Amino acid sequence: MDFDPELLDILRNARHIAAFTGAGVSAESGIPTFRDAQTGLWAKYRAEDLATPEAFRRDPVTVWNWYAWRRDLMRAVRPNPGHLAIAAMERLVGRVTVITQNVDGLHVQAGSSEVIELHGNIWHNRCTDCATSVPESELSADTPPVCPHCKGKIRPGVVWFGEALPTQAWTRAAEVLETADVFFCIGTSSLVEPAASLPRYARSCGRTVIQINPELTSHDEIAQYVLRGKAGEVLPALLKAAWPQVG
Ligand code: OAD
Repeated sequence: MDFDPELLDILRNARHIAAFTGAGVSAESGIPTFRDAQTGLWAKYRAEDLATPEAFRRDPVTVWNWYAWRRDLMRAVRPNPGHLAIAAMERLVGRVTVITQNVDGLHVQAGSSEVIELHGNIWHNRCTDCATSVPESELSADTPPVCPHCKGKIRPGVVWFGEALPTQAWTRAAEVLETADVFFCIGTSSLVEPAASLPRYARSCGRTVIQINPELTSHDEIAQYVLRGKAGEVLPALLKAAWPQVG
């Protein structure tokens, strides 16, 4: 895989890299992306019809079971070479901030030390009534589990369609765009706002935007560099090309 020498220089001289990621970075770990057809029992559902407060109010059992299915899937998977390459950048560049739309926790598992989870984390649970956080080990056997404090319904600690992003996460992500030299946009269809506006904002702030995706997306036109391919293949090759001594 050949890379533009100018791009390699930009990476080597970067002091702060931001890696904005979507479901595509976890695809090679075996987690289906949102735009992939859902499999098996869930084939008749669309993520957009399940990941909403209305769906949970209307049918909490089905929504809870969908997340339980996704958790079981995620429990069995590991970070892939794409996650590991992003984590490895921390040993090569002053600062690397991961801004992820994913809720699977794989960037932290891979060793990334600064991870902003814009859409929450599937391993977190909170009460819909009193907002108490409940560790998975303390969840009641009910479906959905009930809150140990107020008997309200427990929901996954993820952002649903129509819900605001966690204020602190969004603020931190916007601050990163003020200081990062390079903004990777990896494995996202860039369809869901407000996260999808980050790459455009990064470019307007003068950052070098690098898109890594096997498919064309609307952000190809704003990226200075488009690396067509899978994250788990492109990222390790890019690190090896920019920092050959890393091996
Ligand atoms: P999508 O499923 O919309 O898009 C996945 C992207 O990853 C697509 O552009 C694929 O081409 C690309 N892709 C697939 N395999 C890849 C690979 N091996 N390497 C790199 N890229 C690959 O997922 P997201 O863009 O993350 O929101 O979706 C954004 C949001 O929409 C999600 O966070 C979720 C969803 O509804 C909420 O749940 C609020």
